[in-house]
Amino acid sequence: MKKALLLALVALVAMTCVFANGGSESTGTSDVVLNRDKPLVFFNRQPSDPVSGEIDMETMNWNDKTYYVGFDAAGGGAVQGQMIVDFLATADPAALDRNGDGVIGYVLCIGDVGHNDSRARTQGIREALGTWNGSTDPGQAKEGSANVGGTTMPVVELDSRAMTGTDGSTWNANAATDAMGNWATQLGDQIDMVISNNDGMAMGCLQASNYPTGVPIFGYDANADAIEAIGAGRLTGTISQNVDAQATATLQVLRNLLDGLTGEDVYTVGITEPDQYGNKITAEVNYVAETKALLANNSPVTIANWQDYTEGTRDAGISQTTAETKNVLLTIYNSADNFLSSSYLPALNYYAPLLNINLTVVQGDGQNESSCLDRFTNLGSFDAYAINMVKTNSGPDYTSRLQY
Ligand code: BGC
Repeated sequence: MKKALLLALVALVAMTCVFANGGSESTGTSDVVLNRDKPLVFFNRQPSDPVSGEIDMETMNWNDKTYYVGFDAAGGGAVQGQMIVDFLATADPAALDRNGDGVIGYVLCIGDVGHNDSRARTQGIREALGTWNGSTDPGQAKEGSANVGGTTMPVVELDSRAMTGTDGSTWNANAATDAMGNWATQLGDQIDMVISNNDGMAMGCLQASNYPTGVPIFGYDANADAIEAIGAGRLTGTISQNVDAQATATLQVLRNLLDGLTGEDVYTVGITEPDQYGNKITAEVNYVAETKALLANNSPVTIANWQDYTEGTRDAGISQTTAETKNVLLTIYNSADNFLSSSYLPALNYYAPLLNINLTVVQGDGQNESSCLDRFTNLGSFDAYAINMVKTNSGPDYTSRLQY
């Protein structure tokens, strides 16, 4: 009888431990944390409505360890627009206006009409060139004007396309090659400028065999091949969205959460002030409380400064830590995305070992969420999750998997 009473008492104490731990089960030597209580960081594709762009705050409030890391998308669109306007201001109208009709014609590669990065860039470009008519959709532009070498000239968006691949994937570089080939044939020397919302599509345009030699072309991302193309005089300009700041911020927020930091420490430690290991991201990363988002800044890259952005420029503010090794499951929406595969993933792979974060990377096909979700498994063996979704409104598909 006495023994039974003792056992009941032991069971009661154990249960109290579980509740006091906010859902974690205390096993004496180590804590088993439920998946729903683990850090969850979205990056590059912000949980949002593909049509309205509204941030999906239900997903962002999944738990108190849910954050988004990206860059200032709206600011980036404005920086891209300004870079093009600055280029035009010093251009020679006679050389730029290829058919001499007094009008500057451009074509635009949009990328993904349901992605807020893409929309922000379309808007920034159209606003800067005066062609903005209130919509980010393809073909939605009015006549604008710009200062070209001291002369105000009308600007016309000759055509714009989403650039969806035959397989349904977005931001598709091959679609851009095909579109550019058709534009060059159909629009000929009406095209005075080519603008692309990312470098992958810009480099795709340059691949078209009939690309009109010497026509200025602008991208976005500052991928290594694009920087090289600027140095070689093939690409006119791009925008750095500071991939190193984003990759380190993604990892630092995870590290902070895994180290048990809470409140404002999560987005300041190692970001605006050194962490306990002496690390601090050198570039500015700003926190937007309303959307739980950490955002890096954008900067223009042209022939004047391309050398500052050449490959291998890693953040010297981040060095080897002595932190406890943690396992993180990370998804990437499309293994064929130029920016994520050639810029973001190499940066993650460089910084993660320094922060003692052991990444398991799952890469999708850019078309179906299932290409990532089918391998979003064995969740209990990971300490945290970092998510780059195929569709920006798929947040609930991931959080529903993390319920237990
Ligand atoms: C990049 C694109 C990339 C996209 C993927 C954007 O921020 O600029 O190049 O394709 O992210 O989500």
